[in-house]
Amino acid sequence: MTLAALKSPPGLNDPQLSIIGQQRLEGELHVNGAKNSALVLMAASVLSRTPIRLGNMPDLTDIGTMAKILVSLGVGFHVEGSSAVLSGDGLTRHDPSYDLTRKLRASFFLIGPLLARHGVAKVPLPGGCRIGSRPVREHNKGLQAMGASLSIEGGVVSAKVSGNRGRLQGCAVHLDCPSVGATETLMMAATLAEGDTVIRNAAQEPEVVDLAGLLKAMGARIQGAGSATIRVSGVKELHGADYAVIPDRIEAGTFLIAAAATRSRLHVTPVEPSHLNAVLAKLEELGCSISPQGQGLTITTRGQLRGCELRTQPFPGFPTDLQAPFMALLATAQGDSLVRETIFENRLQHVAELQRMGAQIRTCGNVAVLEGVPMLSGAPVTGTDLRAAAAMVIAGLAADGVTSVTGLEHLDRGYTRLEERLQAVGARISRTGAVRPALLAA
Ligand code: EPZ
Repeated sequence: MTLAALKSPPGLNDPQLSIIGQQRLEGELHVNGAKNSALVLMAASVLSRTPIRLGNMPDLTDIGTMAKILVSLGVGFHVEGSSAVLSGDGLTRHDPSYDLTRKLRASFFLIGPLLARHGVAKVPLPGGCRIGSRPVREHNKGLQAMGASLSIEGGVVSAKVSGNRGRLQGCAVHLDCPSVGATETLMMAATLAEGDTVIRNAAQEPEVVDLAGLLKAMGARIQGAGSATIRVSGVKELHGADYAVIPDRIEAGTFLIAAAATRSRLHVTPVEPSHLNAVLAKLEELGCSISPQGQGLTITTRGQLRGCELRTQPFPGFPTDLQAPFMALLATAQGDSLVRETIFENRLQHVAELQRMGAQIRTCGNVAVLEGVPMLSGAPVTGTDLRAAAAMVIAGLAADGVTSVTGLEHLDRGYTRLEERLQAVGARISRTGAVRPALLAA
């Protein structure tokens, strides 16, 4: 071990958030554009030779990474205020590098539009990640059914349409599970395919509906997005469009949960309440009151909250992306709670960190049983993935004493300057260390 290593134990200088908890929050929090929509809308730019303009873009490291991937393929990208303009005119390549794609699962979804536009695509497998193995079998199976031949070598999926002048062929696809990414990949691929494609057991998430909205604005013919059966009638060409990304339901949910955990009153806006029905129902079951106001929701939380049971499910069920933040809230709700994670096999890593703060949680497989404690106590904790990091921030806001949160490289993937926004509503939270979200323009 070197002398320098002795002076700076690993992790000591990592960027971190310091939170002095137990402050009531008050005021308004603005919700940004949805990360998981924006990423896939960016991928759709590959389908058109004329520019698409995406408004309400969130300023996140993941968006910067996707922009770099697209630019490496020849797509033009520039930022105008909170809009991004993407031009697929110069698209020359179909083989994004592993160096860039390994950072971002949504980059794999590019295989659909690249194949539709060029008849050939080579996209590295996204690999496993901290929350589970995250296969892409459904994406690949659907593309094969549409006439692509696929091989996997050296961790790269090579896809090619040999006959039909390189054009995919519409067909019926039944997904084994309603995968969001597979539905989006196949929907994009089908827009330029010959004939009709029917995707059954499709994901019904609002991000799928948002993608259909953009594709339709680009001239695609799509019916049924938001239901379990989506029909796409292929067209020869798509064109540019002007489109605004929907508000981020997961960010809105995170803010509402933060308000509940700190027993505060907050106005969160803009929110599409129908995107959050399952979460709002659980917050009300706990004892929060929520009322629509203007474009947003006002949440008021007074006194003790009650524990509850929840299970994560595909939309319109309770979203897996809010399971960790909600568990931070349940840690101090009165009585027992039970949380069952059914989407990802390894998404309870925040439990150990919450236990460090005094939470009483037992796990068995993908089930966590919580016995509410009156108060968490501040501690050094790590966010092991994006939503686990958000959970740590919520726990820190609610806890007695000082909490320091590391793992901000995860947090910055999905929340823009979170500490500044929370400060503005009364949180005592500050960042040390150099990391800042990459700007859209970076
Ligand atoms: C999207 O991931 C989101 N990411 C995730 O958000 C989100 O957690 C997830 O949907 C579920 O809502 C993006 O949109 C970029 P899936 P995706 O394919 O599309 C199984 C966040 O924190 N499955 O719908 O990759 C899979 O194992 C992130 O913002 C198969 O079995 O998720 C899982 O159990 C994390 N075979 C379930 O489906 C397949 O071929 C859902 O995965 C594909 C998926």
